[in-house]
Amino acid sequence: MNDKQKVHCIIVSKHDAEKAIRVLKKSDILATGFKIIRCNDVIKIPITGKSLPKDVEENLTKEGIVFKEGVNYFEPKTFIKTYKDLIKNMPRSFLDKLPASYDIVGEIILIRIPEELRSYSHIIGNALLNFHKNVKGVYEILGETYGVERVTPLKLIAGHKVEKTIYVEHGIKFVVYVGKTYINPSLCFEHARIAKEVYDGEKVLDMFCGIGGFSLHIAYAKKVEVYATDINPYAIMSLISSLKINKLKGKVYPILGDSSLIYSKFFRGVFDRVIMNLPAYSHGFLKHACKVLKEDGGIIHYYRFAESINEVIYEISRTISSVRRIVKFLNVRTVLEASPRKRLYVVDVYVM
Ligand SMILES: C[S@@+](CC[C@H](N)C(=O)[O-])C[C@H]1O[C@@H](n2cnc3c(N)ncnc32)[C@H](O)[C@@H]1O
Repeated sequence: MNDKQKVHCIIVSKHDAEKAIRVLKKSDILATGFKIIRCNDVIKIPITGKSLPKDVEENLTKEGIVFKEGVNYFEPKTFIKTYKDLIKNMPRSFLDKLPASYDIVGEIILIRIPEELRSYSHIIGNALLNFHKNVKGVYEILGETYGVERVTPLKLIAGHKVEKTIYVEHGIKFVVYVGKTYINPSLCFEHARIAKEVYDGEKVLDMFCGIGGFSLHIAYAKKVEVYATDINPYAIMSLISSLKINKLKGKVYPILGDSSLIYSKFFRGVFDRVIMNLPAYSHGFLKHACKVLKEDGGIIHYYRFAESINEVIYEISRTISSVRRIVKFLNVRTVLEASPRKRLYVVDVYVM
């Protein structure tokens, strides 16, 4: 409980309380930082200043309100602006280190907690749970995405385990199997950016679709055919479920399997556009992407972790030039900072 403070007030019967508050508010004299005291039939309303101004007295009387002036100890109101305001039992020196950002993914929260605060993770989780009433489970992100399937390691720190949830980006619903697939809400802008670039009538390949971030954004906005492949069965299950709950202009064909095997065999020269969002390994698939692009040219969106964009340009130029011709680099941008020395870059390149 907050320390009470001595504050001037007016004392009215409970029947007059609402009217009195209205008059005090109108005169800008209500001390809004304190809680009103209710005591049986009597209400004590805190005011600013040391006495009631004459005109306010007159206004109260005009309204037929019987009142007395007094002084009382009032409890300050607590203003809860962030989950940090709900943290209790944590040393002051740690409060400054609490994470300011986290992701809300449907009914769950994903948060990274600094090493020195790990022993308080349950306190942090419960504060988040109390702050976000619609959230059912809070998960700590334990490290970097791992394995071929790029799954984020998670640990439940508050609430209860959520198997499946629905996450929304720009009005598009994504079914998410928690802890079973890659998920990164920071890619939302990038999903929408690529969807804007696509023209109606295109055939698009989303080579590493995950839960379908790019595929669903594109098919939501454009009349296209998107072939969406992933090696993780949960990612494809998510995408299939999401297709049932979204109204799309285009068509999405989810395919479970290894992109490097499927496409170069059966889809040579078919696509107008290939999206390659597997930043740690995409270089190994670049030649496959070149094979599936239409003979008369197409666009590759190439995502890659690197220390500098020049590394990515060099890699892409060397690899593509050995099989096709680069007509133009259409766009080059940093998508996000992955670590102090590693960034996620995207290069959009027009290839003949
Ligand atoms: C970075 S995630 C994709 C994220 C997704 N594009 C998005 O925007 O949310 C990379 C995905 O590639 C998939 N993957 C890895 N190797 C693959 C392969 N050889 N063929 C198909 N998918 C693969 C992983 O399972 C993972 O879902």
